Amino acid sequence: MKRYYVTTPLYYVNAEPHIGHSYTEIATDCLARYHRLKGEEVFFLTGTDEHGEKITQAAKAKGFDSPKAFVDENSSRFKSLWEGLNISYDFFIRTTDEAHKKIVQRFLEKLRPQLAEGTFRSWYCVPCETHYGIDELEGVSPVCPNCARPVTKIEEEDFYLPLERHREWLKRYILSHEEFILPSVRRNEILALLENELPDLCITRPRERVPWGIPVPFSSKHVTYVWFDALLNYISALGWPDGERFTPFWEEAGAVHLVGKDILRHHAVYWPITLHALGIRPPRTIFAHGWWKVGGEKMSKSKKNVVDPVEMIEKYGVDSYRYFLLREVPFGLDGVFSEEALITRLNNELANDLGNLVYRTLTMVEKYFEGKIPEGEILEPGRKFPLQEIDEKMSRLQFDGALLLIWERVRNANRFIEEEAPWKLAKERDEKRLGSVLRTLLEVLKKVSLSIYPFIPETAERIWEQLGIRKQLAQATFQALEEPLLPVGGTIQKGEVLYQKIEA
Ligand code: ME8
Ligand code: MG
Repeated sequence: MKRYYVTTPLYYVNAEPHIGHSYTEIATDCLARYHRLKGEEVFFLTGTDEHGEKITQAAKAKGFDSPKAFVDENSSRFKSLWEGLNISYDFFIRTTDEAHKKIVQRFLEKLRPQLAEGTFRSWYCVPCETHYGIDELEGVSPVCPNCARPVTKIEEEDFYLPLERHREWLKRYILSHEEFILPSVRRNEILALLENELPDLCITRPRERVPWGIPVPFSSKHVTYVWFDALLNYISALGWPDGERFTPFWEEAGAVHLVGKDILRHHAVYWPITLHALGIRPPRTIFAHGWWKVGGEKMSKSKKNVVDPVEMIEKYGVDSYRYFLLREVPFGLDGVFSEEALITRLNNELANDLGNLVYRTLTMVEKYFEGKIPEGEILEPGRKFPLQEIDEKMSRLQFDGALLLIWERVRNANRFIEEEAPWKLAKERDEKRLGSVLRTLLEVLKKVSLSIYPFIPETAERIWEQLGIRKQLAQATFQALEEPLLPVGGTIQKGEVLYQKIEA
């Protein structure tokens, strides 16, 4: 059986989740669901990043005595948001899990012979928990290239992993693996970075400065640097080195990491080299998507311009929110979040195009055939469905493109209703054609509903319910589309309209 391993970043639990986090989560969920529909065995990993300086500071600021109580509370906020968004993760890892901590320590011990030790100097950005080289940031008051906040100069005794000796290997690896870093603009960014010497990677922090971390097994004075700890989650969750998931999912299938472009360097340089140092293969793909902006700026906790996903779900429903994020912007580019734009898509594409197709079709089956699925030939619009083209889009993470293909079929079916004018056929008592037209429309709904499932699962399930084949489709793969799931004479159960339009 084919396997698929897909991951999200582990989000920092210093504050509540915002739509940026939910974006990566929804996109990853969509891929996981899609690959399950293809009949693959999927492992979808997500979780929270809970150690380090910034978490310690946030816990203090919120008046918590121990970071543990603070991270417990905030981690569960992410979990409950994922529940509200119908995120179908297989495992939720926390970097404070005992199992994870042990694996990180085991990894460190194996890496020990390659580590150097000594005074480490850098500019450090606490909100990004990232070191920048002394020469990298010039100027009197240097700021972080990622978040533009002030950085502080640190000088401390640490252990570090020399990266320079792996630079040529990484360059060659990227050049010979087209799908390793996506989209190509990000790949080029990393290749450009690799034109210059790589600074050492600091992988510890002094315990007296940052006590909240995983103890380094060979030095009582140090804890693990938070990024080193967090990145290892991708293999610790599989039970590296001898857990039963490690070989099939990591070594054979290869991981697909979804991340935002803010953390590209950590994933595309530090992470593969860390693995390579111990002879472990790199992930299959690192896809770095763009940023959601509000009023021209990246949405972030510090800029106080965050959109609250919980509020969006309450106002517009889960699926409108999921649909908007996946449809509005090609995955990889930046996007602008606005409620007006969400409402427009909700009204036009969900309520008008899809909602109406379902409602009109089922209304006619009720009216002309007493709610029974009619006999009839499946005509052209119900026959061809662009599964292969959708698959090509999905293999390149082009969610918007896949949705567009599905919506072309939806609009095409609405046009088919206008052209065939079933109400005329009924008047003319052309039962044969009428039966075929409705049978065809039901067939379109079956195909559409299965293919929208990865994107808007709740809507898909509501359509299955109305078609009277919920049970069958809930277990189905795309193969079901070849089978005659709609039994002639079976009863449909028309429900409420799928989407209420919203006055802007
Ligand atoms: O970086 N638009 O965690 P984090 C789109 N703990 N995506 C956004 C976004 C925005 N405005 N803001 C955040 C960390 N994201 C580390 C990761 S992984 C081993 C450790 C999403 O809480 C996007 O996926 O800062 C980004 O990469 C991630 O949240 C950063 O989350
Ligand atoms: Mg961040």
